[in-house]
Amino acid sequence: MGVIKVHDQEGKLHVLEAVEGWRVMEIIREHGLPIKAECGGACACATCQVEVAPEWAERLHDMREDEEDMLDSLPIVTDYSRLSCQIIYEDELDGLELKLTDASLPDDMDAEAAA
Ligand code: FES
Repeated sequence: MGVIKVHDQEGKLHVLEAVEGWRVMEIIREHGLPIKAECGGACACATCQVEVAPEWAERLHDMREDEEDMLDSLPIVTDYSRLSCQIIYEDELDGLELKLTDASLPDDMDAEAAA
């Protein structure tokens, strides 16, 4: 058991207990933070998009082609964009830091409401 550090869309930091083998998206959702994750982790919606802290970007496993293709289809991505459903939490990721993006806000919350 370790933790991940998640900055929500308002910039507030949440330290979440993480379980090995869970998708990072599932950990975020389980703790009640706003993440749409519409397809439930099938790499088919990109609404679980996050930005990982630069120092973590190289420590994550490489993207599979379907994750890369999905990110390529989005209007706004950065060098640190990932789909959180495609990151499986392992002990080596203890302390992983990332931020939720407005693109992952559930439909009933817009960016203004979260600000
Ligand atoms: S939950 Fe749909 S791509 Fe991650």
